[in-house]
Amino acid sequence: MSLVIRVGPQRAKWWLDTLQELLPDIDCHLWNNPGPADKVQYAVVWDPPTGWLRTFPNLKAIFSVGAGIDHILADKELPAGIPIVRTTGNELRQRVREYAALHVLRFHRKLPEIEVAQKEHKWTQYVEPLAGDIIVGVMGFGNLGKPVAQSLHQLGYSVRVWARSNKSVDFAEVYVGNAQLEQFLKNCNIVVCLLPLTHETVNLLRRDFFDSMPGGSYLIHAGRGQQLIDRDLIDALDSGQLGGATLDVFREEPLPVDHPFWSHPKILITSHTAGFIDPDSGGQIIARNVRAFQAGEDIADAVDLIRGY
Ligand code: NDP
Ligand code: OXD
Repeated sequence: MSLVIRVGPQRAKWWLDTLQELLPDIDCHLWNNPGPADKVQYAVVWDPPTGWLRTFPNLKAIFSVGAGIDHILADKELPAGIPIVRTTGNELRQRVREYAALHVLRFHRKLPEIEVAQKEHKWTQYVEPLAGDIIVGVMGFGNLGKPVAQSLHQLGYSVRVWARSNKSVDFAEVYVGNAQLEQFLKNCNIVVCLLPLTHETVNLLRRDFFDSMPGGSYLIHAGRGQQLIDRDLIDALDSGQLGGATLDVFREEPLPVDHPFWSHPKILITSHTAGFIDPDSGGQIIARNVRAFQAGEDIADAVDLIRGY
């Protein structure tokens, strides 16, 4: 029985060593040296190439090195009927909470303007609104959106959330589905996107979306690059409809060196690190999920493939 790992080359050996130590009775291999294909029962992957997973005839489960699974579903030759398990956990949630708080505060407390003022040796005193006067809209209220919304509420922001199904939340206004999207966006000073990529969320962040936000508001996007129409964002920033954007995810990753986002003065780029899953913490979770799968137990992180997230 073996497990094959396909992740970016930078941390591949770290993943291999970690998983092998945690799962000593399973032979762990990297993608470039997978051993006999018919022995592979488990695959641990980020962005597997089309057709690669179907080369393992006895594959029993696929584990995403990430909370999202769109990178696996993108494989048009994905073998049918194989469970997909995502990776979540406290470390991921904590990192995304930190990321959201950092970038909300950055816009609220005008850090981009303050940095420009310092470069120009200008003593500038802004009277900044208190957090309670800022409405932050969190898109997605699941594993990540919920703790992010809670943290922002604890920081004092007026928080509203948008999800697919209704929730009972005592600290935030809840908006549900496309019917309430415009209303949700209407007064948001800052929108934080933490949505999974599905057929409903692809291309969602586009011109009419930005037009529904108040003039000069901000976008923090850590969902998926395919949710954003790049050209529409640039237009909204250039016209002043949006005051700034922080982007962590892109249609193509790494973001191509000549992409206009890199040099846009109102865009801050982070390299898909909002909720980075490192092999030490992620390995523990994946190993636990492999064990649960072997024991036939319910796995909370197993993905509902009909829902698509
Ligand atoms: P969950 O599945 O736990 O939560 C997803 C949330 O999005 C749910 O609240 C769901 O609504 C809502 N949602 C889904 N589809 C729609 C829709 N069409 N309209 C409105 N709301 C919708 O996912 P996670 O919180 O774990 O992760 C979310 C995404 O964040 C991942 O899929 C990934 O794309 C991204 N991510 C990015 C990271 C980064 O480093 N940049 C790190 C990790 C994740 P409902 O509650 O009603 O089901
Ligand atoms: C993701 C992740 O799904 O980094 O984006 O976990």
